[in-house]
Amino acid sequence: MKIYGWIVGLVLFVIVAAIGAVAIPNPLGAQILAEAKYRGYLSYTPDEAVTLAYKRCTTCHPADKMLKYCSRCGPPFIVVSHSMKKYTELMIQKGGAFKPFSDAEVIAITQVWNGLVGNWEPDWGTKDINKLLQGDQALIRLAETPIEKRPIEMALKNKQAPGSHKEDRMITP
Ligand code: HEC
Repeated sequence: MKIYGWIVGLVLFVIVAAIGAVAIPNPLGAQILAEAKYRGYLSYTPDEAVTLAYKRCTTCHPADKMLKYCSRCGPPFIVVSHSMKKYTELMIQKGGAFKPFSDAEVIAITQVWNGLVGNWEPDWGTKDINKLLQGDQALIRLAETPIEKRPIEMALKNKQAPGSHKEDRMITP
């Protein structure tokens, strides 16, 4: 199984490199690129990440859940993303027809809600956040990445999601 994943990864990588080299836009190419992004071989652009966040986080509840979420409501989005990923895995185990969240997706999606609705990670502190992330290495790495080094979040930091009350935190000292 592990070897299989590795081979698929390698094949995808080669195909993506080929598509990149000749730049042919076609539906199969788009699908392969989407898969490569899902697996983290290529990064999501900020626009793609926004579309992804709205699409992937509204399969169980409306976008209002994110838009009305706030610093008084609970822990920052990075922790919410982790819980939703875990919850989705649980639902899949129980037979639900959901697509599991990949690491690349939750990293991109967290940055989107942070950028468009608010990021109150500074109120919580990395140590508390790491505890709440329960060993989720991908999100722990994101938590330890300064906000200035998160490309999607930086691209969105002066935007606001319609219907939200954005919480601005001073992100740079
Ligand atoms: C598999 C279903 C499912 C998916 C997918 C899902 N959620 Fe949820 N979400 C829930 C459930 C269930 C609740 C809690 C019940 C409720 O409040 O309605 C919830 C609640 C929330 C809340 C409110 C938490 C609170 O304390 O008020 C937020 C914010 C949220 N989700 C964000 C997200 C984000 C961000 C994503 C995408 C990464 C996402 N959800 C994807 C099922 C899901």
